[in-house]
Amino acid sequence: MAIIESVRWSPAGDAVRIIDQTQLPGRLVERDLRSIDDVCEAIGRLAVRGAPAIGIAGAMGLVTALIPSARESRAVFEGTLRAYAARIRATRPTAVNLPRALDRMLACAAEVGGSASNVLAALRAEATALLEEDRAMCRRIGENALPLISDGASVLTHCNAGALATGGIGTALAPIYLAHEAGRRVRVFVDETRPLLQGSRLTAWELSRAGIPVTVIADGAAASLMRAGAVDLCIVGADRIAANGDVANKVGTYAAALAAQHHGLPFYVAAPTSTLDPSLPNGDAIPIERRSGDELACLGAVRLTPPAADIDNPAFDVTPAEMVTAIVTDVGVFRRPFDFSGGRGDRGDRGNVASITSTTSITSTS
Ligand code: MRU
Repeated sequence: MAIIESVRWSPAGDAVRIIDQTQLPGRLVERDLRSIDDVCEAIGRLAVRGAPAIGIAGAMGLVTALIPSARESRAVFEGTLRAYAARIRATRPTAVNLPRALDRMLACAAEVGGSASNVLAALRAEATALLEEDRAMCRRIGENALPLISDGASVLTHCNAGALATGGIGTALAPIYLAHEAGRRVRVFVDETRPLLQGSRLTAWELSRAGIPVTVIADGAAASLMRAGAVDLCIVGADRIAANGDVANKVGTYAAALAAQHHGLPFYVAAPTSTLDPSLPNGDAIPIERRSGDELACLGAVRLTPPAADIDNPAFDVTPAEMVTAIVTDVGVFRRPFDFSGGRGDRGDRGNVASITSTTSITSTS
């Protein structure tokens, strides 16, 4: 499989090099982010997107934005670090990976002694570790979810939880890549994912590039496709999973889960342990990002709605835990009733989630 690196260091290490996802599928363009404005704009505009990828880009972007401050005193540097971390944190509220990555960067800085440049070097190593850990977690999710994808399977997914959204081979798409690599025949149906079309623009792009058969459907077509017997299972990613297993993911996920439940189809969520947020008891506490109405009302320069109509554009919804068949993580497969408190899931053998479940609450912007 040709590697897609959605986020990486530039060769000189002075910038975060991202694939500008707003340009896909038309053009594969990379952009170098250096300043705090570059980083916040790219995350806010979804040039880099997907829960794990924004955590990584936020951490790496913090480093590159701080490069000019490495000549300052430690106190000045730390003031700038806190201000920049707060700005990056405020860009997108729903995915917990972003505040978690930033908290980890702040904790790293607090542990390092010496000059500002010492701290910067430690922060660079921490951000690199985040990227590498995410890559490894994606592969483990893929391995843990691989038994779900049998030869000839038809899978429905929503949004993009693939390589573009992570530092590795994705979450929901990871088992699909591994099944394809293993010679299993897989067909993917992907909801176009209104309004920003992460399904038709991004998932269809990366799967077809890998030679995996993919069919784009309108979001509203999923239910009748299931009724027709064309779907064997659904698998989606997540932006934040509450302690009880409620799952926030791209708006429209809940509707897909409802349709799957009605048709007796399994509905799986694939996510790294960095997406679990045990500080929130259930999905009602998950902050849901509301984005500009123009994303819904306009197609390029063309206005699709009358000016007098109000627009409501929540970017995410919450799928109740009782509708989720299983949550596949890097440490194993969790089934209802979900309990992440130190468990490993039923196929996990590479660590546990105790460190995550014991974290204090994640600082939220809302
Ligand atoms: O608004 P986006 O495109 O960042 O939303 C992305 C999603 O909802 C993904 O499904 C989720 O982040 C999981 S990515 C592995």
